[in-house]
Amino acid sequence: MRAVLRAPCVLLLGLLWASVPGSRARIPPHDQVARVARFVAHLCDWASMATISTHKPVEGQPFSNTFSVSDGPVGSGTGVPYMYLTHMEISVQDLQVSPQASLSMSLAQTDYCKQQGFDPQSPLCAHIILSGSVLQVNGTEAEFAKKSLFSRHPEMIDWPSDHNWFFAKFNITQVWVLDYFGGVKTVTPEEYFQASPYRKHH
Ligand SMILES: *[C@@H]1O[C@H](CO)[C@@H](O)[C@H](O)[C@H]1NC(C)=O
Ligand SMILES: *[C@@H]1O[C@H](CO)[C@@H](O)[C@H](O)[C@H]1NC(C)=O
Repeated sequence: MRAVLRAPCVLLLGLLWASVPGSRARIPPHDQVARVARFVAHLCDWASMATISTHKPVEGQPFSNTFSVSDGPVGSGTGVPYMYLTHMEISVQDLQVSPQASLSMSLAQTDYCKQQGFDPQSPLCAHIILSGSVLQVNGTEAEFAKKSLFSRHPEMIDWPSDHNWFFAKFNITQVWVLDYFGGVKTVTPEEYFQASPYRKHH
């Protein structure tokens, strides 16, 4: 019932600025699914990442953990979630056995859903699930990952050097988007990377 009443409001909300700290960006229309996915992926500073556990007593079971991510400096997202990892970390140990993982991000992590009155599980509180694998990056891509991560997570600069941190990216094979009623929608990596999260300036 509430969902039915909310539907017309959503149309109005689409005209308003999404109130996201440090950003005057607004969420793209819900039917532009790839753009919504890029928008969510750029705004979120962290993600839940599920790996296939290698640790007793849950070996072989999904294991979801929190990671800081960045797909680029604020305002210039690439869509590729970068991470700063160490092999000392429990989930990274899982990735050494199987690099396959799932990354989840939600506008519930910003002020947007609370301000609009959208519960985190409501599809109106746009959220995405990325399927793929985690790969170490080197060279110029590692330099870009460093710039992307350290600009949005400044304390990373001081993380203990004896942990042998390295830069990694989430290599996306499928994008799943929940941004409206009617069930999950999928976006291919090609559609996702071609989409622009922001409206072009007029
Ligand atoms: C980056 O370097 C690591 C360590 O030498 C190597 O295992 C990995 O395959 C390299 N990754 C890429 C994308 O070249
Ligand atoms: C990375 O993702 C692409 C699809 O975007 C896929 O074709 C490729 O096989 C993936 N690479 C690895 C090493 O998983």
